[in-house]
Amino acid sequence: MKVIAVTGTPGTGKTTIAKRMAKEKGCKYLDVTKLVKENKIYDSYDRKKKAYDVDVKKLNKFLIKMILAEKAEKTKCLVIDSHLSHYLPARYVDLCIVAKTDLKKLKKRLEKRGYSAAKVRENMDAEIFDVCLNEAKEEGHRIKIIKN
Ligand SMILES: Nc1ncnc2c1ncn2[C@@H]1O[C@H](COP(=O)(O)OP(=O)(O)OP(=O)(O)O)[C@@H](O)[C@H]1O
Ligand SMILES: [Mg+2]
Repeated sequence: MKVIAVTGTPGTGKTTIAKRMAKEKGCKYLDVTKLVKENKIYDSYDRKKKAYDVDVKKLNKFLIKMILAEKAEKTKCLVIDSHLSHYLPARYVDLCIVAKTDLKKLKKRLEKRGYSAAKVRENMDAEIFDVCLNEAKEEGHRIKIIKN
């Protein structure tokens, strides 16, 4: 089974890319945001940030279990949509796609979502410093960057 992790700063188009790839390649699509909520894979809800503080260790454990279960089910391929998907150990992932967006465009997208100025800044900084890309490299993933 092929496992594709789609990561990137919020708003860079992960869901758009992941859903398109799943459709094109006939892969199963995993919505990690939904899984986190449904299975309470978080420590708390950060009201100021309006986001869940995800327990990455717990998330990895959960996702690895899912990957192994899908493998056993003979699923052809799996696309994992999450800005935390690159934290999965490289041995479980065949390809890590990092979504990237032009800074001007990303800022517009984030503002359009009604994010606070602080949240927009935080995400812009993450994109400027290529946090997801660098962390994915650190993890030893095979990487493909998709700009959109
Ligand atoms: N190639 C593209 N061209 C134009 N707009 C795009 C493109 N890809 C994504 N978008 C737009 O950018 C916005 C963010 O896309 P998307 O929801 O896929 O990002 P995301 O990385 O999944 O965000 P999040 O981390 O919050 O889940 C959406 O409004 C989407 O329509
Ligand atoms: Mg998304």
